[in-house]
Amino acid sequence: DEDPRIHGIRTRIRVVPNFPQPGIMFQDITTLLLDPKAFKDTIDLFVERYKGKNISVVAGIEARGFIFGPPIALAIGAKFIPLRKPRKLPGEVISEKYILEYGSDCLEMHVGAVKPHERALVVDDLIATGGTLRAAMNLLERAGAEVIECACVIELPVLKGREQLNDKPLFVLVEYQ
Ligand code: PRP
Repeated sequence: DEDPRIHGIRTRIRVVPNFPQPGIMFQDITTLLLDPKAFKDTIDLFVERYKGKNISVVAGIEARGFIFGPPIALAIGAKFIPLRKPRKLPGEVISEKYILEYGSDCLEMHVGAVKPHERALVVDDLIATGGTLRAAMNLLERAGAEVIECACVIELPVLKGREQLNDKPLFVLVEYQ
């Protein structure tokens, strides 16, 4: 049975057709953030799942993983690592290129942000093709971390992004059909 909080979260995500390109149904979480109850419910559902699981790292993906990741990290007592688009981080980085629904991009992580064998959670707002989460997992695993799970607010199941995650568990709150 679905948690009653999920319904409120789903109804506050605005779907914008043909943004940023024709044919894309953009999932806009800024409307979810405008409702403090729905925003808190979103964070609480993740915290309830990951509290007490000995996770020491929450890695958030630029840009919207920077909105959901930090409150989860604080609540479970983990550090937060920003995974950023190219040339944003000032220190030494490792990089992973990936293909997007619309274009290609790259994620970077600071060397030394995570120690070998740390237990990590990857957070983003949405999984579409899965390329972005796959790149994030690769960065953490190259640094020796153990990725326990990926967590997103929204999944677009038709794009089969889960299949890119090499059997790593993916937890989502809302599926958009
Ligand atoms: C969106 C979304 C995810 C990614 C998912 O970000 O926030 O990070 O796409 O796509 P995928 O599963 O097909 O890889 P976007 O690329 O729009 O970047 P932004 O957050 O910097 O705007």
